Amino acid sequence: LGRSIHYEETVDSTQRIAQRLAYDGAAEGTIVIAEEQLGGRGRLERSWHSPKYKGIWMSIILRPRIPIMQTPQLTLLMAVAAVKGIEQATGCEPGIKWPNDLLLNGKKISGILTELQADSDRIHSLIIGIGINVNLELEDYPEELRNTASSLFIETGKEWDRATIVQSILLELEKLYSLYLENGFYPIKLLWESYAVSIGKRVKATTLNGSFTGIAKGITDEGVLLLEDDNGKVHHIYSADILIES
Ligand code: BTN
Repeated sequence: LGRSIHYEETVDSTQRIAQRLAYDGAAEGTIVIAEEQLGGRGRLERSWHSPKYKGIWMSIILRPRIPIMQTPQLTLLMAVAAVKGIEQATGCEPGIKWPNDLLLNGKKISGILTELQADSDRIHSLIIGIGINVNLELEDYPEELRNTASSLFIETGKEWDRATIVQSILLELEKLYSLYLENGFYPIKLLWESYAVSIGKRVKATTLNGSFTGIAKGITDEGVLLLEDDNGKVHHIYSADILIES
């Protein structure tokens, strides 16, 4: 992975560029990284604030031969690679909030967005985008994000070298991806669970079909969240915003 790196100063979104490269046949492991995004994209149609020189804004092209249903597994794998990479480069160990937010002291420092190019049942490519708030200061955030978002700098009081963090994440990603291709999702799932902060807690999941409150029990082998409500009914949550209540 990372043998071909497209480095850009300013882009609308590294996801857009990676999608175009993937469509044109770019090799697995191709990476797009930018200093600044003017139209950074988040999950659930949100935007992702990506100011210049302050963070890691990166997209990676993967082409795993797996059923489409299993693609969430790779988002979870990326989250584990990011936790381990950040830990190695900075000594901070973020927790993972399902599906793929990285939290430090309960605040979001990183998010992951996976987009799929596929026809009927074959994956053409997966574009995994990760944004890491490295050296952002509170004033870099719009007012409405200041209560929930944070950065490594805000949480540790230190500036961090972004290239070192990128390097450790890519090394971890490469190791975990080989492990996954050889041994399947199970070892990744165990690692993910060991970093997860939402499992076993009472959470509120807001989905397109309404919201559900209950205990987050764990994830399935496809990466789907299992939420047990107060009547003991277990809901499968495919996509949601999670609020940890206790
Ligand atoms: C989230 O909503 O938590 C996911 C955020 C993903 C942001 C990254 S930054 C690099 C890549 N390019 C984008 O436009 N988005 C992703």
